[in-house]
Amino acid sequence: MISKKIEKEINEQIKREEDSSRIYLSMASWCETNGYPGAAEFLYEHSDEERMHQLKLLKFLNDRGGHAKALQLDAPESGFKSLHDVFVKVHKHEQYITKCINDLYGMCMNENDYTTANFLQWYVNEQIEEESLTSAILDKFNLAKGEKGGLFHIDKELASMAQMGEGDE
Ligand code: FEO
Repeated sequence: MISKKIEKEINEQIKREEDSSRIYLSMASWCETNGYPGAAEFLYEHSDEERMHQLKLLKFLNDRGGHAKALQLDAPESGFKSLHDVFVKVHKHEQYITKCINDLYGMCMNENDYTTANFLQWYVNEQIEEESLTSAILDKFNLAKGEKGGLFHIDKELASMAQMGEGDE
């Protein structure tokens, strides 16, 4: 049986994963309506992955005798300065999620809840991959230096990354 303290924090993380899903959905919609279909495809897929992250936590919490809740969320940002701005924000958001996961993992260790810590190890690994992926995407923008041809190329690359399922799980 999971402690009330850990249950509350997992519910907060469930909320953050759902929030991530909505943030990426909103970004995907901006990309789709601003001429970046590849980035849109990539972000729609990323949004689905976050929903999967949310569900995985939800099922774990319920299986452990807790009660997963759908908490209230704020509307995500819907306007962006540029495609670069979108991906700077994706990267920052993933860094924030990494910190939250690490804090949660640390709390489980302090509370001697090794079962939950063991479960969270998947998220710890996932965050390493997500940060490395978003950092590699930002490198592409640095190389392109905001040139139109470069952005067109990045958009195409994002489409093929989405099609190959890069960033999945
Ligand atoms: Fe669920 Fe992108 O972290």
